[in-house]
Amino acid sequence: MACLDVALAGLAGADFLSSSDLDRAEAEALLTLAAQLKAGSQRFDLTGRVLGLIFSKASTRTRVSFTVAMARLGGQTIDLLPLVTQVGRGEPIADTARVLSRYCDALAIRTFAQADLADYAHWASIPVINALTDEEHPCQALADFLTLRETFGDLEGLTLAYVGDGNNVAHSLMLMGALLGVNVCIGTPEGFAPDPAVVERAAALAAGRAQITVVHEPVAAVRGAHALYTDVWASMGQEQEQAERERAFRGWCLDGALLAEADSRAIVLHCLPAHRGEEISAAVIEGDQSRVFDQAENRMHVQQALLAALLAPG
Ligand code: CP
Ligand code: NVA
Repeated sequence: MACLDVALAGLAGADFLSSSDLDRAEAEALLTLAAQLKAGSQRFDLTGRVLGLIFSKASTRTRVSFTVAMARLGGQTIDLLPLVTQVGRGEPIADTARVLSRYCDALAIRTFAQADLADYAHWASIPVINALTDEEHPCQALADFLTLRETFGDLEGLTLAYVGDGNNVAHSLMLMGALLGVNVCIGTPEGFAPDPAVVERAAALAAGRAQITVVHEPVAAVRGAHALYTDVWASMGQEQEQAERERAFRGWCLDGALLAEADSRAIVLHCLPAHRGEEISAAVIEGDQSRVFDQAENRMHVQQALLAALLAPG
């Protein structure tokens, strides 16, 4: 059975609530381990370990990739659907977290407020993983940068341009990009910029090794970039704003014209699910430069690496 890279030792028993919970060495080592797991050159044994999933929002990729990741490591997952557990009936997080810590070895939580996730982490005595909140989607960002690394090798000096809503996915990309030395340019319409506090945190993490920029013009965002990334205009919980957002984001579709402004080797990324004809054209998402299905597959590999690190004997 494999030994973990020494750079990952500090992650045993830790929470993963934000991309910025990692340091540079940990982020790089997780990507390396994920690539090894994908290639079949590393194996870990989590027999008897159980990951609890608490998802208060819909999910296909995250739910299934965590379940399969755990199964491939020899462990199990229990899906604590809020509607059939007391979670959906308002049992306090402090009680749920302490009880589940007596049964499970880790929890992956998809919820609305980042503060609720932090509350789970405060009360749980086992690792808590962010499976998406309104503020961040750090497991997604790990998969995204693994996909970029598979294409370009070395990440240092690359530029990832994200166009659309300055949302949870954009936040985690900025923070993870900053850690890994990738320039991240976020292009949004006025009024939809990422949280300035997250931009500031990302700039501090980048420490001069990468540029973190926010612009309000799509061509300016993508010019010369090595990866073009977009996400839905209305995230889960914002469904009532769909029509208003469609108006505000007119001109921000990631289409062939925008792709032509990027580096000729640029790849196209999308966390999925996608709305073809809104934030991305069908031709671009189905085109030669699209890596969206490799990216989705990579969720499983990075999460296997993460679980192996968090659940390693401390
Ligand atoms: N990208 C992603 O998190 O997809 P799901 O919402 O299907 O989990
Ligand atoms: N920003 C999207 C991502 C879905 C994976 C949402 O939060 O709905």
